[in-house]
Amino acid sequence: MIKSIGVIGAGTMGNGIAQVAARAGLSVVMHDVNDELLSRGLSAIDKSLQRDVDKQRATAEEKQQIVSRIKPTTELTDVRDTDFVVEAVTENLAVKSDLFARLDRILRDEVILASNTSSLSITKLAAVTSRPDRFIGMHFMNPVPVMKLVEIIRGIATSDATYSTTGELVLAMGKTPVEVNDSPGFVSNRVLMPMINEAIFALYEGVGSAEAIDQIMKLGMNHPMGPLQLADFIGLDVCLAIMNVLYDGFNDSKYRPCPLLKKYVDAGWLGRKTGKGFYEY
Ligand code: 3HC
Repeated sequence: MIKSIGVIGAGTMGNGIAQVAARAGLSVVMHDVNDELLSRGLSAIDKSLQRDVDKQRATAEEKQQIVSRIKPTTELTDVRDTDFVVEAVTENLAVKSDLFARLDRILRDEVILASNTSSLSITKLAAVTSRPDRFIGMHFMNPVPVMKLVEIIRGIATSDATYSTTGELVLAMGKTPVEVNDSPGFVSNRVLMPMINEAIFALYEGVGSAEAIDQIMKLGMNHPMGPLQLADFIGLDVCLAIMNVLYDGFNDSKYRPCPLLKKYVDAGWLGRKTGKGFYEY
């Protein structure tokens, strides 16, 4: 039974995961490399929980209890006594590999290591550890407190026991686990990103304005956000990185990133986080 969890990374995904874990009653150790990143993560959690208090989905006391279950730290060794560790740091293979090799040395043998990677190979990340059977992909969706899905990705060596423990943890966190195998983009981003990329091609070729493309998908297909609005929300650098993983992984030109997407990323127009993408914020 998992009672405590280490969350590595206090960014958008990490603080969301820490929040839902603490809300489910788990003790959480949230790690990041400096105090400023930790305090930004904690204030995002505070803001998100305050929304629940304002909407009377939680009391101020419950909010306080949830927050008190989260221990922020800059010392990686502080996750030593946790029962399960999920990583949500930057999407960079070298950074994640180095981190998992260190965690592998710190943690007890039976502890499962999970990655929230959106597209890196779970099999490859698992291979840097001495526990590839206890390694799994745990792909949360943004915004984590709202989205029901956790895509669970089995690497080539992931054991059935690891899958079932992870699935139970996800259910305990109030989310729905869906099992897939390791493959570029898994299922979520293999289907989502080419749709977004195609919407960018439609804009690039002048088939329609950004507003028209988004309205078509919102009103015509009942998507909560249009694909260009969603791209801005996810981050255009993230969208481009995932398209490149698909392109390289399958060696298939159907996954080539749209030149307009590359140009926006070159310009530093990364979407909401930089104040400009397909829209201005
Ligand atoms: N934290 C907590 N709650 C939040 C929140 C946050 N960051 N953002 C929104 N909410 C809650 C609101 O409180 C509200 O709750 P209520 O309806 O119960 O009162 C609810 O979500 C709806 O919020 P809003 O009314 O403010 O706004 P919208 O109705 O426009 O919904 C949205 C916002 C939930 C983000 C919706 O637009 C949506 O579902 N968009 C699509 C999101 C999506 O596709 N995410 C997946 C991205 S892909 C990904 O993550 C994978 C990666 O690998 C790329």
